[in-house]
Amino acid sequence: MKIAIDGPAGSGKTTVGRRLARKLGFQFINTGAMYRAVAWGLRQGLELEEMELELEGERVLLNGRDITAELYNEELDRLSSEVARDPRVRAFLIARQRELAEGRDVVMEGRDIGRVVLPEAEVKIFLEASLEERARRRFRERGGSLTEIEREIAERDRRDRGFGRLDPAPDALVISTDGLTVEEVVERALAWIQRARKER
Ligand code: DC
Repeated sequence: MKIAIDGPAGSGKTTVGRRLARKLGFQFINTGAMYRAVAWGLRQGLELEEMELELEGERVLLNGRDITAELYNEELDRLSSEVARDPRVRAFLIARQRELAEGRDVVMEGRDIGRVVLPEAEVKIFLEASLEERARRRFRERGGSLTEIEREIAERDRRDRGFGRLDPAPDALVISTDGLTVEEVVERALAWIQRARKER
């Protein structure tokens, strides 16, 4: 079974996706981390063709080196959303993501999973939240200036439009997470997954 979780920056995809995967015993694949890793590699001067991307649980290995700790900062937030606009980068990563999901039970999280990467996924969930709420969540994770974070997320939303991103797949369950706890979101998602399992 394949579960696609999409949504904009700060909508809670990673937190929710990780919990669902753990509860279901599925593999969790965070595709944002893959865009971040490619951005990191390009910044180092590597060509796309020279990059071998592996996931070990939630660790990201680029050519054998674990770079996970270097992927979550403001610079990589920006660089990853910029490189994600390059059709070559998208084609490269979409192919790799399909390979990783092949023949496995997965929860795959990203922007374009339900519409582009795994349109055949049995379960599609799209998480939304207001800009203010998403900025507050990032602020709690990373600190800094709330106004600045809000401005950066708005800018990332603008860049992340297109390529089947930021719009839910027609068959996705859309959950607005403002005012919901993580547990409440996970419960709704699980109910939706149970329904899909029964229909199979
Ligand atoms: O989910 P994230 O913030 O870690 O993703 C980083 C960037 O990667 C995001 O700004 C857009 C891009 N991305 C994408 O274009 N498609 C995906 N499936 C996942 C991420």
